[in-house]
Amino acid sequence: MTNHISQKLEERDRAGSTRKLLATNGLVDFVSNDYLGLSRSKTLFDRIKGYDYSKEVNINGSTGSRLLAGNSTSAQNLENKLAHLFKSEAALLFNSGYVANLALISCVPQRGDTILYDSLSHVCLKEGAFLSKANRFPFRHNDCEDLEAKLKQATDNVYIIIESVYSMDGDLAPFGDIIELAQKYEAKIIVDEAHSTGLYGDAGSGKLCALGLEENLFARVHTFGKAMGVHGAVVCGSKELIDYLINFARPFIYTTALPLHSLFSIDAAFDHLSENIELQKISKEKIFYFNSLFNQKIGKNENMLRMESNTPIQPIVVPGNARVKSIAESLQKSGFDVRPILSPTVKEGSERLRISIHTHNTEEEIAELINELAKHA
Ligand SMILES: Cc1ncc(COP(=O)(O)O)c(C=O)c1O
Repeated sequence: MTNHISQKLEERDRAGSTRKLLATNGLVDFVSNDYLGLSRSKTLFDRIKGYDYSKEVNINGSTGSRLLAGNSTSAQNLENKLAHLFKSEAALLFNSGYVANLALISCVPQRGDTILYDSLSHVCLKEGAFLSKANRFPFRHNDCEDLEAKLKQATDNVYIIIESVYSMDGDLAPFGDIIELAQKYEAKIIVDEAHSTGLYGDAGSGKLCALGLEENLFARVHTFGKAMGVHGAVVCGSKELIDYLINFARPFIYTTALPLHSLFSIDAAFDHLSENIELQKISKEKIFYFNSLFNQKIGKNENMLRMESNTPIQPIVVPGNARVKSIAESLQKSGFDVRPILSPTVKEGSERLRISIHTHNTEEEIAELINELAKHA
């Protein structure tokens, strides 16, 4: 019998793509999804500590599924608050964005239905589609012609799955065109707002609310572990959809609910952001600064290609696992926490440094990072 475990690990080693856990290292943060610095905010930390735990019995863990002992008025109050904030009829909490997407997409589309997902969709959206019994097809990233060709052949209920900000490329979906197509072919749109929640919209309600397009969507998934600096996620949609998920979404039904501390953290993070909404503007300024300086110092360079992005996700394509790893290591030695994204996580030839720009990155840090990058261009 062959040992596929060691065989697979050896294959990874040979391809230079072995994944390893690295502890955070005190370097300047150009890697986290903490775009607005909320995860490190002492003010938010103190706010979370100040919540009144006396109204609930289970103050440490939630003790079970929401359908058994794990429900609480705090969870339901938070869902009502989030539904209002995200301008949705209803909302349902999940333990993480991964689980929320998996749950939603695996249980809503039925056998005979069609799921059309952007080819750069996050793995949890794809996993949800693979777990469902529906037919599923990728369409080329942000390519509405390809999407329309596939819509023409789609059967029964059709679901289009997109992200508002793509996690590896940092670009936006062409919302207007996709909504038009969905209307023309009577398809339902599901948007993963993981990398837009907090960064855009009143009180951090996300890109679709910021554009006033939320009413055209079947469902949205907002996650709290990125710009909101905490943890968890919510599915927003009609009351009927939420009732359906409570009844049929297995990753909702058969798991221990979020603990009270997480509920308070999410609640506090949105209040904190509402009171510090200028963080969204600071984020845009820092991104603009990074972009302009990169263009000035490095410019168009095939060995180090900055993909066009106006979001905090700034991918710098450096083809080849070995090269991108060696540049990331050199940047780390110079004090910057930049990590390589290797193939097969991204397509071979599009290996990259995925630089995240944060409100807590100073202009000096950004300038120094670009000087270091320029040495390898
Ligand atoms: C686009 C996208 N959706 C969903 C997730 C998963 O969210 P969470 O980290 O809350 O599980 C991620 C995480 O990286 C993501 O990038």
